[in-house]
Amino acid sequence: MKILVTGGIGFIGSHTCVELLDSGYEIVVIDNLSNCSIDAVDKIKAITGKDFKFIECDIRDRELLDKIFSENDFDCVIHFAGLKAVGESVSMPLSYYENNVGGTVTLLQVMAAHNVKRIIFSSSATVYGNPASLPITEDFPLGPVTNPYGRTKLIIEEILRDLWVSDHSWSVILLRYFNPIGAHSSGLLCESPKGTPNNIMPRILNVALKKTPYITVFGNDYNTHDGTGVRDYIHVSDLARGHVAALKYAMENNKVEAFNLGTGTGYSVFDLINTFIRVNEVDIPYSIEARRPGDIDACYANPDKAYKLLGWKTTLELDTMCKDGYKAAVNANK
Ligand code: WQD
Repeated sequence: MKILVTGGIGFIGSHTCVELLDSGYEIVVIDNLSNCSIDAVDKIKAITGKDFKFIECDIRDRELLDKIFSENDFDCVIHFAGLKAVGESVSMPLSYYENNVGGTVTLLQVMAAHNVKRIIFSSSATVYGNPASLPITEDFPLGPVTNPYGRTKLIIEEILRDLWVSDHSWSVILLRYFNPIGAHSSGLLCESPKGTPNNIMPRILNVALKKTPYITVFGNDYNTHDGTGVRDYIHVSDLARGHVAALKYAMENNKVEAFNLGTGTGYSVFDLINTFIRVNEVDIPYSIEARRPGDIDACYANPDKAYKLLGWKTTLELDTMCKDGYKAAVNANK
């Protein structure tokens, strides 16, 4: 089987390419390299010992997409490509709608023109907004979402549902990620966002590498066990394996199906910082400051549906996420 992976050189995409290759799939990877380094291509090949075709391509480039689809008989598309910084999306909403929504519509049009009607979409738990209760199941109400990034994910989910309603020969899998962190155990792949990272783990890593003096804890007055925000952190390799499990389901069903990809356990900011310090034997100074606008108290998954229908569940714990993440960051900064 041949799979097209859009945005396959990014943090989650590159880890998914490793798992796809390790599982024996043939892949073609496209990425516009706007938020990642082309070095990951060779790292994926080194980790897996497998070759694959990489083409620098933006999903808004209809002509090049059409050429790629004309030259390859794809069985499914795994769609990661898109901008993903919450804070940036508030200041640049049009870029997010043009890239994420516009780019996805172009991709879907080219897929339809070439009769490729199976897609696994990289969605996010942010589509649930501020959940009324926890843990979150897939039938929870969606929205309201508090930022343009999250709204693009919700809009794309709706576009995919409308597409399936118009043509039941489509197979659509919506994977709602919780908080991916960590790195492949080889230490060769890591999250290397261009510019200032928004998420907590890249910021903790910058402190661990002494690039920044301390981590800012955005609020300790949340309704959680220690007052700091609680999230469902998931090892990126577990997340990647969820895509391989979803692929099998996508090939056997013509439905729209959403799955939470999380561990089912919530950890606070202090839990994460203290775990990172313990397993890596480094100091992570922090300063407690005001809440970040748009943040919610707590968010974690009920991952039962993915286990029941995909036979997938996470296997890696927070200790391993912190250890693997630090190992990869040290390697990347040698
Ligand atoms: C986690 C916790 C912060 C930074 C977002 C998107 C989601 C997904 C992951 C892309 C919160 C706290 C953070 C810092 C802190 N995006 N924090 N100091 O906001 O849960 O989710 O990123 O795939 O769709 O919504 O992730 O890592 O930014 O924050 O205290 O410097 O860490 O308040 O409680 P978030 P995050």
